[in-house]
Amino acid sequence: MTELTRQLDALEATLPRLRRGDPTVFYEVTVILEKLRQAAIALERRQAELLTLYEVGRDIASIIDVEQLLESILDRAIVLVQAERGFLVLWNAEANDFKVAAARQFHAGEVDQAQVEISHNIIRRVMSTREPLMTTNAQEDPRFQSSTSIVAYSIRSVMAVPLIAKDELIGAIYVDTRLKARMYSTEDLSLLSALADQAAVAIRMARLYEELQQRNRELQATLDKLRATQDELIRAERLSVVGRMASSLVHDLKNPMTSIKGFAQLLGQEHLSPEQRYHFSTTICRSVDRFVGMTQEILDYVRGDSSLALEWVPVSELINDVCAFVQPEFLAKGLRIQTDLAFTGSVHVDQDKFQRVLLNIANNARDAMDPGGVLTITSRQDGDWVELRLQDTGPGIPPEIMDRLFEPFVTHGKPSGTGLGLAIVKKVVEDHGGTVRAENHPGEGACFIITLPLNP
Ligand SMILES: Nc1ncnc2c1ncn2[C@@H]1O[C@H](COP(=O)(O)OP(=O)(O)OP(=O)(O)O)[C@@H](O)[C@H]1O
Ligand SMILES: [Mg+2]
Repeated sequence: MTELTRQLDALEATLPRLRRGDPTVFYEVTVILEKLRQAAIALERRQAELLTLYEVGRDIASIIDVEQLLESILDRAIVLVQAERGFLVLWNAEANDFKVAAARQFHAGEVDQAQVEISHNIIRRVMSTREPLMTTNAQEDPRFQSSTSIVAYSIRSVMAVPLIAKDELIGAIYVDTRLKARMYSTEDLSLLSALADQAAVAIRMARLYEELQQRNRELQATLDKLRATQDELIRAERLSVVGRMASSLVHDLKNPMTSIKGFAQLLGQEHLSPEQRYHFSTTICRSVDRFVGMTQEILDYVRGDSSLALEWVPVSELINDVCAFVQPEFLAKGLRIQTDLAFTGSVHVDQDKFQRVLLNIANNARDAMDPGGVLTITSRQDGDWVELRLQDTGPGIPPEIMDRLFEPFVTHGKPSGTGLGLAIVKKVVEDHGGTVRAENHPGEGACFIITLPLNP
């Protein structure tokens, strides 16, 4: 019960006292009271309708599937104005025609073609005038006098409202009833119009959303195609340098092959101590392993392979191995290599690939430095990361290639350089979840800083 009805009840309770006074006043007050009661009932009904309308608006605004939305709008409209039947049409501006998108009770057996025609005439009128239309007595409405079927099917009350959003005619909702008990009022018409306004906006939004989805799908398809083309291109580019790499490989293989041959000849000598034999054979094996690793690395690069054979390896072992391997060439050039390992714990790496990383950086330092130069390798822990620094005493990285240093085929000042060394470094380090960067320290040469996660 609302506050208004409570007040009316209170007023009515005072009536017996009035009865004792002037009978005309008593009668007038009774009449006014009755009118007030009617108005209160109408007001309450209107309030309930507005509440329903608000809920309907909120509900339909949450539906994004257009078809489902149209069905739901029609169902809501029928319940809202207590219609018997109804349908929702969509306007097709190009064809200058409409089509029924949802219908309730308008199926074969219950209505015939003639009846559908009448309602379609009404719809056409609403669409052309863009105005709501209502008749409470279709039989006597001069607008439908020509249709004898209206009388035949005793359609009493009809309402049709246009669906318009942002000046765009979307369609219309039609409802009717044959029950004499349910005559539509102008309140019903404004209620249906209000629903139609909300529905039109919801349909427009759902359509926009659908369009957006479609665009997204098209964009995704284009993107996929672009990615495929890009992959193709990258592969083609990689393959085109296979020739260049092959010649540099042959070049790089010559010297070590000579030393392998030398050690193999030494192995063939008589009267070798077991230690000497072991030393010669392991030196040969290690060199061969490195070359196999090197060719594999180039193959992996060409294929874009990122697979890693991860294991926990002590940082000291990684670095000392690399130092031992490059030592002879450093010595031959009058260079030194030294380490200062503050962190000696283990890291989770593909040992072969990661040693190639350090080797590539060390070889670059060897190429860059003049006799007397020193390469210092340090390690330290920084929170959850291990940081490795390889600092040389060379001239530093040429500024003109600094921003592209880690890109493939960027090489400077080396006749046989492929420019793949640092590209491989970056790829392998990033495959390990780490980072690599280079810095030039004034008067100090180049420094390469690698970070690796301790808990990958
Ligand atoms: N420590 C360094 N000091 C000075 N310049 C360096 C140093 N490291 C790399 N560079 C420069 O960076 C370039 C690119 O190095 P990267 O290792 O990628 O290719 P490369 O050594 O030229 O050829 P590759 O290693 O494939 O045989 C080198 O050509 C060199 O000019
Ligand atoms: Mg290099």
